[in-house]
Amino acid sequence: MGISFPPEAPASCTLCPRLVAYRESVQAKHPDWFNGAVPSFGAEAAKLLIVGLAPGVTGANRTGRPFTGDWAGDLLYATLDKFGFSKGKFAADPNDGLVLTGAMITNAVRCVPPENKPIGEEINKCRPFLEARIAAMPKLKVIVCLGKISHDSTLRALGLKVSAHPFGHGSRYDVSVNGRPVTLLSSYHCSRYNTNTGRLTAEMFEDVFAAARETAG
Ligand code: URA
Repeated sequence: MGISFPPEAPASCTLCPRLVAYRESVQAKHPDWFNGAVPSFGAEAAKLLIVGLAPGVTGANRTGRPFTGDWAGDLLYATLDKFGFSKGKFAADPNDGLVLTGAMITNAVRCVPPENKPIGEEINKCRPFLEARIAAMPKLKVIVCLGKISHDSTLRALGLKVSAHPFGHGSRYDVSVNGRPVTLLSSYHCSRYNTNTGRLTAEMFEDVFAAARETAG
């Protein structure tokens, strides 16, 4: 029998030596930052799970809340607000009082990777936390994956073949989680690069969340 993982990695997780070394190097310069495996944000009873890539160094790794404190979060939280998945005002601070309503945000990789690029081994080592995260959501109806790494890792977490479910902006698959129907939607990642280059516009991103809203009910 394999080791069973909890849905949240311990903040001081040591599974990935390269990520631990990077985290420690950031911590040496910024001892007041969170600098740990960032926990998911939101309630387990949520119908929607958003799966990001990994904490940004000056964003979630600094603040300790997914997508909080960097560019990617501004579009994500504005969109969640627009589709009724949050209450309160997002102020890029974990103490801003923002509450997610029917949504939870997690990351495919829970620790900050150098240059925002986790390697395959790190994505694989972190996947059991994602599997446990998904399994611990009894009302889950929709998963929105942000970017191809998130999409592929989520498929693998669900025991599905990546080749049979190719990633695309707006791709949609009907899958099953513990025998219950779940819709898997994917979007280009809301990174600064993708939005600055026009690969992802706010309208394109909103289309995905409109579909998530409709499916989640
Ligand atoms: N912050 C996160 O928590 N995840 C991302 O994918 C990007 C920024």
